[in-house]
Amino acid sequence: MLRLFAPIFLAAALVHSKSSSPANTLLCGQYDTHWSNDSQFTFNTNEWGDDGSGSQCISINKANTEFNATWEWNNNPTLVHAFPNIKLQSDLLPLQLSNLSHLNISASWSMTPSSSSVDSLDAIDAQANVIVDMFLDTDPVTANSTTLPKYEVMIWMAAFGGKRPIGFSSSIKHPPTHNLSEAQFTLYSGANNNGQFVYSWLAPDNITSFDDDISPLLHYLWQHKKISESNYLGIVQFGTETFHSSSNVTFSAQDFNLTVASGKPIVDSGGAAALPSLGFLLLPVSFLILMTCS
Ligand SMILES: *[C@@H]1O[C@H](CO)[C@@H](O)[C@H](O)[C@H]1NC(C)=O
Ligand SMILES: *[C@@H]1O[C@H](CO)[C@@H](O)[C@H](O)[C@H]1NC(C)=O
Ligand SMILES: *[C@@H]1O[C@H](CO)[C@@H](O)[C@H](O)[C@H]1NC(C)=O
Ligand SMILES: *[C@@H]1O[C@H](CO)[C@@H](O)[C@H](O)[C@H]1NC(C)=O
Ligand SMILES: *[C@@H]1O[C@H](CO)[C@@H](O)[C@H](O)[C@H]1NC(C)=O
Ligand SMILES: *[C@@H]1O[C@H](CO)[C@@H](O)[C@H](O)[C@H]1NC(C)=O
Ligand SMILES: *[C@@H]1O[C@H](CO)[C@@H](O)[C@H](O)[C@H]1NC(C)=O
Ligand SMILES: *[C@@H]1O[C@H](CO)[C@@H](O)[C@H](O)[C@H]1NC(C)=O
Ligand SMILES: *[C@@H]1O[C@H](CO)[C@@H](O)[C@H](O)[C@H]1NC(C)=O
Repeated sequence: MLRLFAPIFLAAALVHSKSSSPANTLLCGQYDTHWSNDSQFTFNTNEWGDDGSGSQCISINKANTEFNATWEWNNNPTLVHAFPNIKLQSDLLPLQLSNLSHLNISASWSMTPSSSSVDSLDAIDAQANVIVDMFLDTDPVTANSTTLPKYEVMIWMAAFGGKRPIGFSSSIKHPPTHNLSEAQFTLYSGANNNGQFVYSWLAPDNITSFDDDISPLLHYLWQHKKISESNYLGIVQFGTETFHSSSNVTFSAQDFNLTVASGKPIVDSGGAAALPSLGFLLLPVSFLILMTCS
């Protein structure tokens, strides 16, 4: 299921309460971490670009089913200040792409000014995204890091204040696309400041609710010879990269889960992209998988 931002969300945000219940876990340190009670993920403050121009706290409810990040950063709007996130913890990671059968991500979220006296995100020049962030490398040890791996793969679910993925240009004539069940994602790529090569899948609209297997967006990359299927997926995180806001913004996420499964990749035909040279090989395989699944 997939929902899109509508004006009604902003109206609803105006009536929220600012106080968090005493049962909530509140983390305000630069690299604070909290384990979910089923240990399948951690919540992380990850204020890696803190330049002293603002602050962030994350709040997690007692049942570990709701996660809020409240933040503001006043300077350096082109830089990521923090990436408050939920990180998948699984014994299966690092997992080679050739052995990744599912990577299911579900979450619902909103991004709104924290103060009811602020009309819109634009009014406080809020710049942020909502992403799934992943790291891959052919070395499984290196893959278990956010700074050392050769590749970063991002899925941009939403973008506020004009933020765009690395390599984005509206003048690119026919960027590659691939469809998941309810949205068509567009691929952009380029190097980041850390020398990593970044593939970013951009959603066409600001999605606010997501529940799908995103592994096809990773498999697309080796099926179209952009990376090797021998790469290991080491890190999977869901959250918001926060760049700028002149007063507090609240990112609120619920109903989240991240799960990974090993096995033969599912080969789907979800894109409008040209048939790759591998297409002749993959088609019979997908038939086989469809037959064995039914
Ligand atoms: C902004 O949020 C932070 C927590 O992240 C909080 O400490 C601070 O008081 C808030 N500022 C205002 C003006 O409400
Ligand atoms: C998250 O924010 C929403 C809206 O402000 C609030 O209703 C909810 O109680 C908050 N949850 C937590 C865990 O802080
Ligand atoms: C975590 O524990 C709370 C009780 O403290 C429970 O209500 C909730 O369902 C648990 N969450 C998960 C994901 O197991
Ligand atoms: C796939 O991953 C599973 C779980 O870690 C492992 O048992 C299996 O040997 C792997 N298969 C291949 C072909 O690497
Ligand atoms: C990945 O790194 C974390 C520390 O960042 C460590 O706790 C974990 O055990 C490592 N996982 C593997 C499979 O090495
Ligand atoms: C996402 O929301 C922002 C802020 O409301 C808006 O500026 C932007 O145009 C939206 N993006 C899309 C693709 O609709
Ligand atoms: C992942 O999603 C697929 C459908 O896309 C489903 O068949 C599978 O059971 C899900 N796996 C897990 C572990 O949730
Ligand atoms: C996440 O999904 C896994 C596998 O389907 C399930 O065991 C777990 O309970 C789910 N966790 C939450 C918080 O829903
Ligand atoms: C992908 O989604 C787009 C937009 O919804 C649609 O126009 C297109 O036909 C879809 N392509 C495939 C192959 O399903």
